[in-house]
Amino acid sequence: MQPKKIIIDTDPGQDDAVAILLALASPAEIDLLGITCVAGNVPLDLTTRNARIVCELAGETDVKIYAGCDRPLGRDLVTAEHVHGKTGLDGPDLPEPTMSLQDGHAVDFIIEQLREYAPGTVTLCPLGPLTNIATAFEKAPDIVPRVAKIVLMGGGYFEGGNITPAAEFNIYVDPQAADIVFRSGAPIVVMPLDVTHKALVTKSRNDAFRDLGTPVGIAVAQMTDFFERFDKEKYGSEGAPLHDPCVTAYLINPDLFTGRHINVEIETQSELTMGMTVADWWRVSGREPNATFMGDIDADGFFDLLTERLVRL
Ligand code: RIB
Ligand code: CA
Repeated sequence: MQPKKIIIDTDPGQDDAVAILLALASPAEIDLLGITCVAGNVPLDLTTRNARIVCELAGETDVKIYAGCDRPLGRDLVTAEHVHGKTGLDGPDLPEPTMSLQDGHAVDFIIEQLREYAPGTVTLCPLGPLTNIATAFEKAPDIVPRVAKIVLMGGGYFEGGNITPAAEFNIYVDPQAADIVFRSGAPIVVMPLDVTHKALVTKSRNDAFRDLGTPVGIAVAQMTDFFERFDKEKYGSEGAPLHDPCVTAYLINPDLFTGRHINVEIETQSELTMGMTVADWWRVSGREPNATFMGDIDADGFFDLLTERLVRL
């Protein structure tokens, strides 16, 4: 089977970093056309820095990395240094990047790639706020039917929210963008908190990363050591939820996940529930299904895949 051509749109973030590393470690399944950065966990200048640090950590300095939107479509930027640290990649002591960003805007790269390849070829993998994706769809509506699939991390239903009681961070930061994407008609697979909160990096799982003994394995363990303190304190969980690598793992082995094809709409009016993914899990609304919303994960299989792939870098 040919590797899937994908664009990772991201706001690194330690969990984004692991998602990128898993993609780079899986060339048989994933042909990474490029990485487009967006403001989210930290401001754009740091997300573009961190994406380059991660690619250099993996020794993949030929990856095309673009800067994208530095703020949401219609709201002030909300960041998450309280979770990811002031750099967004706190934990390991990694060198400043030397590889350059590509010229040009991330949105134009997304448009160009979708126009260059045959319809149904390119998969978009948003791991942060959907600002770049929505901007591309608004600027070039012709690309929407060309998208093979959007596999994104965002939202929550049974789990509620993680930045407000109702909303998950990626959707909350730019609800207008999320609304554009979820109404676009592009095929969408959602990795919500309902799934990612079951992908917990327990001590034994993090020790397995560290025991790889490679710079990547050790750095991932150090990222998780930092990243997990917030979630363990907040949820009393056994470890950090590895949100974004669920997207990459789905591309490699979709059977690790189960979910339902349902209607998902985004709250964009009420400040109380702003950014909530209103997932019609019980199909009571009569609204047209527009997304495959994942509900469960084979967590052991996920971590086995992650560990088995990261050792390759
Ligand atoms: O809510 C979790 C999501 O928000 C993850 O993608 C994390 O990296 C942050 O972007
Ligand atoms: Ca992210």
